[in-house]
Amino acid sequence: MRLGRIVGLLVLAALVAGGWFLVSKLSNPQMPRPEKVTRVVSLDQGWSPEMSERFHHTAQGTFLLPVAWLNHMEAGFFTSKKLTDPELLGGLRYITDGVKPGPLNPQGYPVGWAAASWSSPQPGGGVPSNNVGFNCATCHTGQLNYKGTAIRIEGGGSLSDAGAFQDMVGKAILSTELLPWKKKRFVDGVSKDLGLPPATVEAQLHGAFLKAVEGTKQSFIKPLYSEAAFGRLDALQRIANTLFADDLMQPSNNRPGDAPVKYPYLWDIGRLDWVQYNGSVRQPMMRNVGEALGVKAQTALVNLKGEANPEPARWNSSVMVDNLFWMENSLHSLHAPAWPADVLGPIDSGKAARGRDLFAKNCAGCHGIHVNAAAEPVEWKVTMIPLEHIGTDPTAAENFAHNTYDASKLGAGTIDGATGLKLVTDRVKGFQYDRLKLDPEARKAWDGYGREGAVRAPLAYKARPLVGIWASPPYLHNGSVPSLFDLLSPTRPASFPVGAREYDPVKVGYSTAKFDGARTFKTAEKGNSNAGHWFADDARAGKLGPGFSEADRWALVEYLKSATYADYPCTDAQTKQPLNGPACGR
Ligand code: HEC
Ligand code: HEC
Repeated sequence: MRLGRIVGLLVLAALVAGGWFLVSKLSNPQMPRPEKVTRVVSLDQGWSPEMSERFHHTAQGTFLLPVAWLNHMEAGFFTSKKLTDPELLGGLRYITDGVKPGPLNPQGYPVGWAAASWSSPQPGGGVPSNNVGFNCATCHTGQLNYKGTAIRIEGGGSLSDAGAFQDMVGKAILSTELLPWKKKRFVDGVSKDLGLPPATVEAQLHGAFLKAVEGTKQSFIKPLYSEAAFGRLDALQRIANTLFADDLMQPSNNRPGDAPVKYPYLWDIGRLDWVQYNGSVRQPMMRNVGEALGVKAQTALVNLKGEANPEPARWNSSVMVDNLFWMENSLHSLHAPAWPADVLGPIDSGKAARGRDLFAKNCAGCHGIHVNAAAEPVEWKVTMIPLEHIGTDPTAAENFAHNTYDASKLGAGTIDGATGLKLVTDRVKGFQYDRLKLDPEARKAWDGYGREGAVRAPLAYKARPLVGIWASPPYLHNGSVPSLFDLLSPTRPASFPVGAREYDPVKVGYSTAKFDGARTFKTAEKGNSNAGHWFADDARAGKLGPGFSEADRWALVEYLKSATYADYPCTDAQTKQPLNGPACGR
């Protein structure tokens, strides 16, 4: 008797625990409330409002969901809100403030969501559908809030939580398939919108469900990505996993994405001779094609059974190279925003001038504009600093340098990320260039300044010019330091809340005040170290120079708030002589 009761209680406890586990796994991630904003201001960054609008909503051929699906899909098991509900999107920090439906964005989607009609790149194609995907602006448009005013930063880092959103889309698909009442609403809505028989929509939903189950299985065991913070993504690993595991249908090629990095700012980017935090990529089109593939442009590397498609058909994709060319070109005329004193308060010009002297002496050797006048058009040489010298978190650079993938389906054997990225992006790009019948001159122009398609994997991070850095918090490649003041100090916060766009114009960064629904950035976790790039008086790894007095730190911060191209240290990379004029962005 007694034994029976104990067993019964144990079974009950196991059921409750199992149920609780299941509910917690099936629930949407915790998220904060949308922030209250009463007005949105734009700064002069060289773009007209029309240009911004076009940049925000030009499609690049990436795939999230068909428009009709997005309009009718509910956001998970325990909610009847739609995936596009402003409450959810605002909570995940997609930019919705000041967004209105317009000719380029008829659905009124957030900044960076773009729709276009295309059919599957698989041989045979099929019926085109109107699909929504993310473009550059999802990740590379920022918003800073200050006392109810939202400041748009074109080309600044977004604070959106892509990992949580992707998780939510997966749960939305699972719940729509599994809960009959949700499925009915979805199938009715989509079949009406598209004029399709309900059975067709059901079959398509089932296909998406089977894919979502694959993704969810992984997250039940061990999530592949450990972003766990707003405004970050392990972009390079996501590109490699998407190409070599998802697109090749070879899950054993997945590698942990444990080096999330913050979304970098894009002004001046066309001038830099190498880009990515680890200075790994030289050619803009190659970079952009790689990015589009990572953000789930569709490929035809293998057929639906996972076997390699024949050449050249296997290099077909939904990547829109013409639009990528436009996006890249539009960045040429984007420049850093100037500190908006009317919103964020005046600059102390005496302090800033002292800060400029300190900057010229202590920082410009790495962060100055170093003009390579021999290049045509002129380039700015970035300074690469080896990991052991800079001392910041090495995970991102090390993963890219050391991870390998089985690419035998492509006839390439085992390859590293740099080789694989070059191989695939070269062919995918070439396929589209051929399709558009581009001549050699046009190819050079579309590639970007005729630059060669080189990819490398240095164990180093790049130092770049910092004009406008005030507008792109938090700091360091992994976003591990909340403010410029903290970055210049000998101690930095070990953990801090993330997810609020409220700005701190004093320390210069996001405010670290507590708020409901905040996630905590823990610098002790892998990929999150806030060490290195130190200015301190003791001996420590990653030290660049002696410590600054508190007054000197505030002076440097004041300079970085106010720095413009006109007063930024600029030299000839070869002769080290001071330079002036348009080569310096003036
Ligand atoms: C899903 C988010 C996302 C999208 C979409 C996206 N990027 Fe990025 N981008 C990133 C991240 C994250 C990095 C940093 C990766 C790294 O260096 O490790 C990055 C890096 C870059 C860099 C290098 C910056 C530097 O400091 O060296 C450029 C240039 C760039 N992106 C341009 C673009 C353009 C142009 C588009 C659209 C055609 C685009 N990105 C779309 C997230 C995104
Ligand atoms: C020895 C070269 C070097 C010197 C000197 C140097 N830096 Fe850096 N700096 C770097 C490198 C490399 C990075 C990128 C490190 C990373 O992200 O892991 C960086 C990153 C930064 C960042 C973060 C940029 C971002 O996008 O988040 C800021 C801000 C910065 N430095 C400011 C300064 C200031 C101010 C000084 C002078 C007091 C200075 N640096 C001196 C090499 C240098």
